[in-house]
Formats: sequence, structure tokens, C-alpha cells
Amino acid sequence: MNNFTYSVPTTVHFGKGQISQLTDSVKLYGSRVLLVYGGGSIKKNGVYDAATALLKENNIFYVDLDGVEPNPRVETVARGAALCREHDIDVVIALGGGSSIDCAKIVCAATNYDGDPWDLIIGTGSVPETVLPLIAVLTLAATGSEMDPVAVISNMTLNRKLSIGHPALRPKVAIMDPEYTFSVPKYQTASGTADIFSHTLESFFSPVRSAYLQNQFCLAILKTCMKYGPIALEEPDNYEARANLMWASSWAINDTLKKGNEIGWSVHPLEHELSAYYDITHGVGLAILTPHWMRAVLSEETVDRFVTLATELYGFDASLPAMELADLAIDATAKFFFETLGLPSTLKEVGIDETHLEAMAHNCKARLSQGFVPLTPEQNLEIYKAAL
Ligand code: NZQ
Ligand code: ZN
Repeated sequence: MNNFTYSVPTTVHFGKGQISQLTDSVKLYGSRVLLVYGGGSIKKNGVYDAATALLKENNIFYVDLDGVEPNPRVETVARGAALCREHDIDVVIALGGGSSIDCAKIVCAATNYDGDPWDLIIGTGSVPETVLPLIAVLTLAATGSEMDPVAVISNMTLNRKLSIGHPALRPKVAIMDPEYTFSVPKYQTASGTADIFSHTLESFFSPVRSAYLQNQFCLAILKTCMKYGPIALEEPDNYEARANLMWASSWAINDTLKKGNEIGWSVHPLEHELSAYYDITHGVGLAILTPHWMRAVLSEETVDRFVTLATELYGFDASLPAMELADLAIDATAKFFFETLGLPSTLKEVGIDETHLEAMAHNCKARLSQGFVPLTPEQNLEIYKAAL
């Protein structure tokens, strides 16, 4: 296992009614709040009313940044930072899924940054020391943004969707009430489950073979997705299913799996190119690409990872030849995404054709050259073509 430093200082309030922790959490940091949210789901399911009632009762000032897009845009970040400066905001509250939380993270950083927020994403400007504190009220189990230091922001003018990670971006507090996810529609429930599954696979496919504990954590999270994803699809208000998926979303990416087990991720940078050009749902793109990426990296050197999946996750007979088990593991993964979760299985189904494949294969080459198996732009292109 590699050496590491583990520090995850997010305070998590998990369970029914934990929104009651909101105002005490705000008071730790100040009394003037920016609320960041998306296209209106939180107004339909009561989350907005619950949060604003508490703020009003406690005489906490708030102003809204609404309309955060799925795949949040840098222009929306700039709008939020301007609101923070205009209203002298002390604390930002994100109410929603990964898009609202990611947008809020960069609003927190951009408020005290003089230049264009896009500089922070591409690294030409550094995250200032005075990043506003963020409270994440999670409404969708998927990205794990509620407990991680990463934000993913899109610039559709440039066809770029990029991530930035910085310890100061990690939410100070996460409020996670599984009941808030009862209203998540089937397609988003399935794609969120695929995202949790993919985060876990990205850590599982590491060249570090001695991190046994992290690997077992990975298998536990993958099993959780397989057990509870289908239940949440059939019974949206099944608390046990929603709770297990919600906690799995945080653990898949809150550093527990990857510390000591580090590896550059592969399927995520491949997928971010799809979203950058075609604005598709993140988890759907991951599901479509994953089996093709698995086939591309399978070899005698890597087959042991596939065998572990085949035998310990999918329950195939360990006496079968390794390569046969690897094929079974890839097929079982595809079956989970496309049959069990019911997600689209080809890029064409989500409106993607060959037009930009070469540019996308080129754009992600730096990240893919550092993945579990380093891949060239030509190999990236083959994966995209196979997924068409
Ligand atoms: O916009 P609203 O009205 O809120 O509706 C959203 C949106 O349409 C809806 N939704 C959310 N909670 C709901 C709900 N609908 C009904 N009931 C609820 N309780 O779901 C739709 C998708 O929301 P979004 O926040 O976009 O989804 P998700 O959480 O999957 O976030 C996706 C974004 O996060 C990035 C993705 O690339 C994408 O931009 N990621 C962030 C990561 C991170 N910060 O670490 C890692 C991930 O790998 C990922 O890249
Ligand atoms: Zn993801």
C-alpha cells in the first residue's frame, strides 16, 4: 500500500430530518447566505421550503442563485460569485445534486478571485486562500461531491468540461437526508447508481495490488449499488435503498478507496469529453463507455483485476480460465448497466455520432496517458468508435 495522508474534514449529518442542523451549521460561519440550486426540483419536493423556513426563523439573510444547469456552466459560477460580492455573503448553501454542489464550490472560490472563474478550472489562476465555506444539502445520490474536494465545470463555448480538485473546495458540512432523494426520477436514479459504480471501479482498477482493504471496500460499494439500485428504481420511496445509495455515493469518492491505492482515472476523462460536446447525463456516458474501456485494458498483466470482479462481485466459478472470467465480468458489468438499470448502451442512442470523436480522443490524451493502462489518442478513439 502506498503512503498517504487522510483528511476528510466534512461534518456529515445523515438521516431523516437532518435539515434541522442547517441553521446551526450556518451560524458557525456567519449570517449571510447564498442558496445555490438547479432547475426547480427542490421547489417541487419541499427541500427549498424546508431550508428557507429555517433560515427565516433564525433571521438569516439569504439570496438565491437558481438555474444551475446539469453540467454546470462557468457563466453561472460567475453570476454566483457576483451575487456573493454584492451581498457580502459569508456562507454558501448548495441544495441539489452534483451540479449545484460543484457550481457552489467554484462560486466559493471565485468570490475572492479577481479574474475569470474559468482560470481556476484550467489552473492559470490559483484558488485563493479565502474560499467561502460551503454547506451541501444533497438531493441525489451520485457524484459524491458532498464530501469530496472536486468540482467539474463546463465551458460550452470552448467545448471543455474540466475538473479541479483542491482541499479548500471540500464542503464543510453535508446534510444528507435520504428522503430528499425519493423524488429523483428513474433515469437519474439509474445514472446516479452508474456514477457511484464507476467511481468505485476507477479506484478498483489500480496497479497497487497490496491495498487489500481498499479493494474490499470497493467490492462492498459495488455490491451496494447492485443490491439497492434496482430497488430504488422500483420503489422510489424505499428508505433503506435510498439511504444505502446515498452513503455509497459519498464513500465511493471521499478518498477512502483511493488513498494508498492511487491511480489516474480513465473512464471519467473519456466521459467528460462527451458531456463537453453533447451535454449528456454524466452517469449515462460512463455506463456506455465502461465495458469498452474494460475490453481495451484487458491483458495478461491486468486480468487478475477482472478475475476478482468475476469471482468476488459476480459470483462466477473461480476454477474457470482467467480470460474467460474476465469476459464474464465485462459482460456482467454491461448487463448491470443496460439491463438491470435500463440505461442506454450506445452513444448513438444519446445523440452522438462520429463528428467530434477524434477531437475528444485528443483532448483527453494527457489524462488517459496516466491511467490504469496508459492509452494513446488512437486507443481512445477506438473506445469511442466501439461505443457508437
Ligand atoms: O436541476 P434540478 O431541478 O435540481 O434537477 C436535477 C437535474 O435535472 C435533478 N434532481 C436532483 N435532485 C433531485 C432531482 N430531481 C428530482 N428530485 C431530486 N431530489 O436531477 C438532474 C441531475 O442533477 P445533477 O446535479 O446534474 O446530477 P448529478 O448529481 O449526477 O451531478 C452531475 C454533475 O456532477 C459532475 C458531473 O460531471 C456533472 O457535471 N461530477 C462531479 C463530481 C465531483 N464533484 O466529484 C464527480 C463526478 O464524477 C462527476 O463528474
Ligand atoms: Zn462520476
